[in-house]
Amino acid sequence: MKIFIDTGEINEIRELASWGILDGVTTNPSLAAKSGKPFRQLLDEILAIVDGPISAEVTALKADEMVKEGETYAKIHKNIVIKVPLIIEGLKALKILTEKGYKTNCTLCFSPSQALLAAKAGATYISPFVGRLDDISTDGMQLIRDIRQIYDNYGIKTQILTASARSPMHFVEAAKIGSDVITAPYSVLKQLVQHPLTDLGLAKFLSDWEKAKK
Ligand code: G3P
Repeated sequence: MKIFIDTGEINEIRELASWGILDGVTTNPSLAAKSGKPFRQLLDEILAIVDGPISAEVTALKADEMVKEGETYAKIHKNIVIKVPLIIEGLKALKILTEKGYKTNCTLCFSPSQALLAAKAGATYISPFVGRLDDISTDGMQLIRDIRQIYDNYGIKTQILTASARSPMHFVEAAKIGSDVITAPYSVLKQLVQHPLTDLGLAKFLSDWEKAKK
């Protein structure tokens, strides 16, 4: 499973990249706004750190405008993936962008039917938001299972990018189901490494080593 970081914070991206486990980056308008940087500058800074897919989301709501906006991002670098919302105009834009040879990420997916339509329109990635479904007392990970089954039934190549991941269990479940990618905030990715028994075990090893040296 590929691991993307979901953030607009350059320090977090730099830190994760230094771990050697980072495959790509997702951003969205909320995260980009939170960074406080002009979007073009933010993309340039991310591109200088990560050599992998970097999702840049369009804010236009009409297909032709989404295409135009998406192309301005995609022309910056080959690693830019054009992120498009899962609405009817978004489907139209996906089709056009795919025919033009661009990579796309269809975002704000909350149902298996939406995921199937996005794949038919040619999306490179589909981003189902598991945490936001959990927020409304719906099983977010069941959506990943359903999409995996549907895509496998038809040999669909669109990659499942589990998004809105909020916990290490989202990560583990996504991997068990066979999600192609997960994107998560820095706080969640850091939790994946930590285990109290690792810390206790290391402290014991080091104290035994110090005693033996005396
Ligand atoms: O980038 C899309 C998604 O990951 C947002 O997550 O936590 O705002 O629902 P969240």
